Amino acid sequence: MTRVYYLASFRNRIEQSSKLKNSRIVLSIDPIQTSQPKRFAMKSIKHLQHTICAIKLNFHLILPLSKSDLSEVNKLAHFYGLQSIADVKLNDISNTNQIAIQYLIEMGFDSVIVNPFMGRDVLRSAVQQTHGSNCGVIALVYMSHHGAKDCYGVDVVSPKTKRITKMYKYFHKMTIDEGVDGVVVGATNISILKEISNRKTAPIYSPGIGAQGGRINSVTKNGADYLIIGRSILSSIDPVREAKKFQLLMSNR
Ligand code: XMP
Repeated sequence: MTRVYYLASFRNRIEQSSKLKNSRIVLSIDPIQTSQPKRFAMKSIKHLQHTICAIKLNFHLILPLSKSDLSEVNKLAHFYGLQSIADVKLNDISNTNQIAIQYLIEMGFDSVIVNPFMGRDVLRSAVQQTHGSNCGVIALVYMSHHGAKDCYGVDVVSPKTKRITKMYKYFHKMTIDEGVDGVVVGATNISILKEISNRKTAPIYSPGIGAQGGRINSVTKNGADYLIIGRSILSSIDPVREAKKFQLLMSNR
């Protein structure tokens, strides 16, 4: 069993896990076989735990599993000294978010990914609630898929300054102001990744390596702190070897 200091904040815990494991890889456990998703998740954690610092579970794993299944998955991750992130891109009114977050906390997740479209006040209560339970919030700032530009890249007028800015810049400032523990910026748009990392705020989580076209070297050189990787590892012939390859490439940055 690997010990991670559980009184520390999520931000510190994941930093500590990444030091212990010498890895900044967040394994996205996206089921590639749907018949036994829990078995798939447990097996992936056991095989890859020494090459990653955290796991990330998305809806297509969360939906088919029960609360006790998810608690078991998270317990196993914790047993190996890993953090667990719920990638639900939460985006609702405060009352609804509150109940969803409570369930995620009870299931043992350490952090939840939220969509800043919920607005500043709602985001603030989500941050307060999660921090109250020693959990973290990671906010979307610029997603990794091609169509992200149609939303995160559009011009908006800031309600405070009345100046025109880009949606992702507005989201970045707002989410940092509200005390999030990390931001998501896709590995597929290097100039935006670089721009966000130059502002030196919260750690950057970057999905989109490999399968979506992002390249690990340029992503790590341009400021990503944690890499969210799914298919490039899990769909490869030898996932452990592939994960170790990524681990080595990151440590050489
Ligand atoms: P792959 O197989 O492409 O998996 O390595 C990536 C995982 O991350 C999710 N994903 C995102 N999650 N913001 C997020 O919070 C994003 O911009 C984003 N892009 C991809 C994807 O659903 C999969 O679970």
